Amino acid sequence: ELKDNTIIIVLGASGDLAKKKTFPALFGLFRLGYLPRDVKIVGYARTKMDKAEYHKRATSYLKNPDNDPETTSAIEQFKEISTYVSGSYEDSESFAQLNSHLQEIESHYQSKEANRLFYLALPPSVFVPSAKNLKEQCYSPTGQNRIIVEKPFGKDLDSSRELLDSLKQYWTEDETFRIDHYLGKEMVKNILVLRFANVAMGAAWDKNHISNVQITFKEPFGTEGRGGYFDEFGIIRDILQNHLLQVLSILTMERPVSFSAEDIRDEKVKVLRSIPPIAREDTLLGQYIAANGKPGYLDDDTVPHNSVCPTFAATTLWIHNPRWEGVPFILKAGKALNEAKVEVRIQFKDVTQGIFKDIVRNELIIRIQPSEAVYLKMNTKTPGLITRAMPTEMDLTYKRRFTETKIPEAYEALILDALKGDHSNFVRNDELDVAWKIFTPILHWIEGRQGQLPRPVPYPYGSRGPKELDGFIQKYGFKRANDAYVWPV
Ligand code: BG6
Repeated sequence: ELKDNTIIIVLGASGDLAKKKTFPALFGLFRLGYLPRDVKIVGYARTKMDKAEYHKRATSYLKNPDNDPETTSAIEQFKEISTYVSGSYEDSESFAQLNSHLQEIESHYQSKEANRLFYLALPPSVFVPSAKNLKEQCYSPTGQNRIIVEKPFGKDLDSSRELLDSLKQYWTEDETFRIDHYLGKEMVKNILVLRFANVAMGAAWDKNHISNVQITFKEPFGTEGRGGYFDEFGIIRDILQNHLLQVLSILTMERPVSFSAEDIRDEKVKVLRSIPPIAREDTLLGQYIAANGKPGYLDDDTVPHNSVCPTFAATTLWIHNPRWEGVPFILKAGKALNEAKVEVRIQFKDVTQGIFKDIVRNELIIRIQPSEAVYLKMNTKTPGLITRAMPTEMDLTYKRRFTETKIPEAYEALILDALKGDHSNFVRNDELDVAWKIFTPILHWIEGRQGQLPRPVPYPYGSRGPKELDGFIQKYGFKRANDAYVWPV
């Protein structure tokens, strides 16, 4: 339930995340009338800016290409509820000033209840001082206080625990909303419904029917502009350890007792705990090189010239439980590839040999983006007088089926959840811990902590990834469809 008298405070208001994601999402919700009544949005950052400058910055990513008058007027109204305070993240005096600003806004409320949602769109170096100062200077004594934080949550198991321990001195788990924005994506949220509201799906969801699963993230651009930042983390921390592992946990968890946040997260944690740390033999690393007129990763001046940071990784996880024993889950992610695509591909087993030969396997594909879709590759008889099977698709492409519905942005969905206090689509502390347990050993190996420093294999900018990839996925039983179908034998 939404609380009136809420102020949303965006820390890091002049940064990239705020401009590109937070403000557009807040605006999207505001426009649709989903924000609490009389909401106010307060930006906070180091940069000194006057109101006009701040408004320009905060609205710089709000799209209105055709100058639609309704949008223009909504943007103007959005500016009216937006104010700004500048200050440092370390200095408690600055936060005291922020608090005075909040109190001044709240003095106009009719009721005494004052709720505050703090959104930390901040670099990790200032997470802890900001969280501390917010608690000590800006905590509303008369309402709800919540804090939204976003990765990076440390760099490995130890640093993540250290960060969580520091933060929990000030903010309880109940007050904390850890964003993994993939959990706000429509098709990721759809997995629960697909699995548990369909007997036909649920019945085939196990090692007896599924041969292998691939969860793939592809981006057609490199680290342009943020190479220096990326180099500290690499693709595994950027995408696999959080976004793809979250998708995996929802795909594979047992049915929760209810759809409550704790029941769902209990099941996610349980399945993640059944996954041992990733083995080196199950990992393929790549780094993109210049091609097609585009620069290589190492050509970026902000990247160390001998960096071995992977910009591509494919890695296979195994789940040791009765449902999934022996099924390979291949997570793969890369920058500077040939296309933008995020999808889950569940490849079923071959039909029992006998009457059919070389028949194509069923595959269920959940396309997360672009163009949300669920489709099932299946065999049907070729229509007409010939007796042959042919591969076809049962296709649920959202933009064709749900023509009237606008699919919300992930950040819109998540901010609304946080305003309502629903933790279902946020990462719990123990979930984060177990995610790091799975990935920390491989990360330490990649970074040479065990003496060896594996060099990622090169792949050209704009390609499908390292050429070793096809062999890699085939090793785990993935069968590419073959065009020769013979039926009957
Ligand atoms: C972020 C990563 O978490 O997700 C980025 O840090 C990546 O490197 C982004 O580009 C991808 O998000 P989306 O929503 O565009 O798939």
